[in-house]
Amino acid sequence: MSDETRPHRTAAVIPAAGRGVRLGPGAPKALRALGGTPMLIHAVRAMARSRAVSLVVVVAPADGAAEVRLLLDEHPLPDRAEVLVVPGGDTRQESVRAGLQALPADVTSVLIHDAARPLVPVDTVDSVVEAVRDGAPAVVPALPLADTVKEVEPGRPGEPEPVVATPDRARLRAVQTPQGFDLATLLRAHAEIAVDGEGATDDAGMVERLGVPVVVVPGHEEAFKVTRPLDLVLAEAVLARRRATDAY
Ligand code: C5P
Repeated sequence: MSDETRPHRTAAVIPAAGRGVRLGPGAPKALRALGGTPMLIHAVRAMARSRAVSLVVVVAPADGAAEVRLLLDEHPLPDRAEVLVVPGGDTRQESVRAGLQALPADVTSVLIHDAARPLVPVDTVDSVVEAVRDGAPAVVPALPLADTVKEVEPGRPGEPEPVVATPDRARLRAVQTPQGFDLATLLRAHAEIAVDGEGATDDAGMVERLGVPVVVVPGHEEAFKVTRPLDLVLAEAVLARRRATDAY
C-alpha cells in the first residue's frame, strides 16, 4: 500500500512519569486530584474524546505502572479508545520514547500530550490531528504571549540578572500539547537527535533539529500546564465552570 492510500490511525501518548516537584510535596503530579478525579484521568479522557484517537498509551512512573492501570480501570473512559500503560524513564524524552515503542505497526500519526495539561478542549485536539492528516509532519498548538519576554544571563536565584535581548513579542508563541506528528518523523527524531542533560521538554523541537518543518495552530487558554500550586486553583475553577454549564 502506498503512503497516500494507507489508512490513518492516530494514537496518543501521555507522558505521566514525572514527579512534579514544583507543585509541592505529595503524590506524583499526574495522580493529583482535580474536581475529585486524578489529573491523568482528565488527560486520558481529553484525548479519547477525539473521534480520531483510537489508542491512548499512558507512560507511568517506572514503579507505578500497576497503580496507574488500576486507576484507569476504576474510572469510566470512552469505549472507543483502547488504553495501554507502559513504564516511563528518568526524563520526559525517555518516557515519550517508551510510549512510542509500545505503538502497534498500523499507527500512522501520534499525539504527544502532557498529563499536566488535563483540560485541553477536544476542538484543540481535533485541529492538531487534522493538520497532521492534511500532511504537516509536526504540529504544535500555541498561543501568543501576554507578557513581554527578556532573554537574560542567568544568575543566582534572587540576584539581579543582566538583560541580553528583548525578542519581538509579536513573533513569539507559548507552545502547548497535544503536539501532533507523522509517526515516522517523530521516531526518526528520537533515533537521531541526542539531547543532553534533562532531555527534550518539547518533541517538536527535536523534529525542528532534523530540519523538518513544524507548524503552529491556535492553542487554547484551557490547555495550560498545571505546574505550580496556583495552577491547581485555576484548573478547579475551569472544571467548576464546565460543570455549571453542563458541558461535562
Ligand atoms: O515536569 P514537566 O511538567 O515539564 O513534565 C511534563 C510532562 O512530562 C508531565 O506530564 C510529566 O509527567 C512527564 N514526564 C515523564 N517522565 C519524566 C519526566 C516528566 O513522563 N521522567
